[in-house]
Amino acid sequence: MPSKPRSGGAFYFRRPNRRETSAKDLIAQIEGSSPADDHYDAKVKVLGEYVDHHVQEEEGEMFPKVRKAKLDTVGLGEQIAERKAQIMQKKVLA
Ligand SMILES: [Fe+2]
Repeated sequence: MPSKPRSGGAFYFRRPNRRETSAKDLIAQIEGSSPADDHYDAKVKVLGEYVDHHVQEEEGEMFPKVRKAKLDTVGLGEQIAERKAQIMQKKVLA
């Protein structure tokens, strides 16, 4: 997610925080296991809590900052889509 404006209006992307890293670990663990496994339900529940918390942070903190900054979200979305296409193209060619 965009984190902080740079000069010239470009944005950089922040590193994932510990909770997000843990969420990625949990997703990997869940994908590599079965619902019959011990702790499967607990991992899914914790992942849901991580996602809920993340959404609350974005809606409660990030969105108000973006509104206040009067950010060009359409233009930013276009930049992100363009950059994503570049990255995906590199992955396809690699
Ligand atoms: Fe997010």
